[in-house]
Amino acid sequence: MAKDWTPSSWRNKPIEQVPDYPDATALADTEARLATFPPLVFAGEARKLTRALGEVAEGRSFLLQGGDCAESFAEHGADNIRDFFRAFLQMAVVLTFGASQPVVKVGRIAGQFAKPRSSPMESVNGVSLPSYRGDIVNGTGFDAASRIPNPERQIEAYRQSAATLNLLRAFAQGGYANLDNVHQWMLGFVAGSPAAERYGDLADRISETMNFMRAIGITADTHPNLRETDFFTSHEALLLGYEQALTRVDSTSGDWYATSGHMIWIGDRTRQEANAHVEFCRGIKNPVGLKCGPSMDADGLLRLIDVLNPENKPGRLTLIGRFGHEKVGEHLPRLIRAVAKEGRKVVWSCDPMHGNTITLNNYKTRPFDRILAEVQSFFDIHRAEGTHAGGIHIEMTGKDVTECTGGSRMVSAENLSDRYHTHCDPRLNANQALELAFLVAELLKKEVEMQAPRKASGF
Ligand code: PEP
Ligand code: CO
Repeated sequence: MAKDWTPSSWRNKPIEQVPDYPDATALADTEARLATFPPLVFAGEARKLTRALGEVAEGRSFLLQGGDCAESFAEHGADNIRDFFRAFLQMAVVLTFGASQPVVKVGRIAGQFAKPRSSPMESVNGVSLPSYRGDIVNGTGFDAASRIPNPERQIEAYRQSAATLNLLRAFAQGGYANLDNVHQWMLGFVAGSPAAERYGDLADRISETMNFMRAIGITADTHPNLRETDFFTSHEALLLGYEQALTRVDSTSGDWYATSGHMIWIGDRTRQEANAHVEFCRGIKNPVGLKCGPSMDADGLLRLIDVLNPENKPGRLTLIGRFGHEKVGEHLPRLIRAVAKEGRKVVWSCDPMHGNTITLNNYKTRPFDRILAEVQSFFDIHRAEGTHAGGIHIEMTGKDVTECTGGSRMVSAENLSDRYHTHCDPRLNANQALELAFLVAELLKKEVEMQAPRKASGF
């Protein structure tokens, strides 16, 4: 066990982004209740994800992580979960083909409720109220009552996470995620896309591969694993009282695990080495993510790696860069070099969303081209450094929202008001997300082709 660590040792450290709960007793009562509730995930699953991410760290798999910026109570329903899962699986199939590698599938879902904010207060027309911090804390409505943090919301978030996870498990294991289904959905997307010509070639090659597999007898009947898939959950471990209440000892290993989701991450605003969020995460055995923005310096990163992954276990730590399309070239190479020089095993993932946010017509948005540009640079940089571009981390939904501009179905600044539904940051809609997957698959294919001669010359 980590030295001098307990599930509550974070309480003795400085902490950022804490909601101002008016009733400390009510908060403590809620946390005590949550501590009696069943875990949402169990340790064996988290270990399985660490192993799968270990393969990413070693350059043999690719990570796809994505989902809402913030889940909401209002949007909780079977259709939303299904549509997200459908879009996500299609992306995974396209990426698997592009990478010629397994794709580790991790949703930002079933627990992604708490949001860090750049300002504790929000002002509208001269009225100033506490900022919205995610449905697990307070409400979006711009009135004093909605913005008061209410601990009961943690119970609601737990219940929603359990129900969402239950449906996801059923989809993943019950036949819905059948490879044939996913392939057919993907063909439907390509046929309806204005960029059908661009994506048709890759789609045809996937179809040919599927036909070949069928011809040699590899079908869902003969290979039941084609009927199911591994899917994992993740969220930002921001609300530490909630996380602590769901932190449990695994009886087989004696280790502590966060059971609120399979993987949790530390946000860019709460990654101070001596502070509470890093303290909490160092003691739990789940795979952990660490967001790295432009202010991350190489020495600081190495110290955080020492604290979070002292055993240098591949798969334990995923570094999620979120620099912005113009800054990634300045910051990512120096961090990659520092980590490589010290021989640290990490997964390098690219969050092309959080550094590329702009405001258009009073809407917070992200241009698709900038998102793609950051991903493209991420691949170029890893190729130049000889390291593995390990994954992408995106904010997306399965619905046809108009929150990010661009894409082949061209969402314009004027369209943003049509279906702008997010409770927090703008998400890629299903078409934009799949389009991104096709474009990333092309980059991955290039990486595979570049490596082929290198491998051959090794004989
Ligand atoms: C997020 O992932 O929604 C987020 C707030 O990211 P970051 O901590 O990188 O800003
Ligand atoms: Co976000």
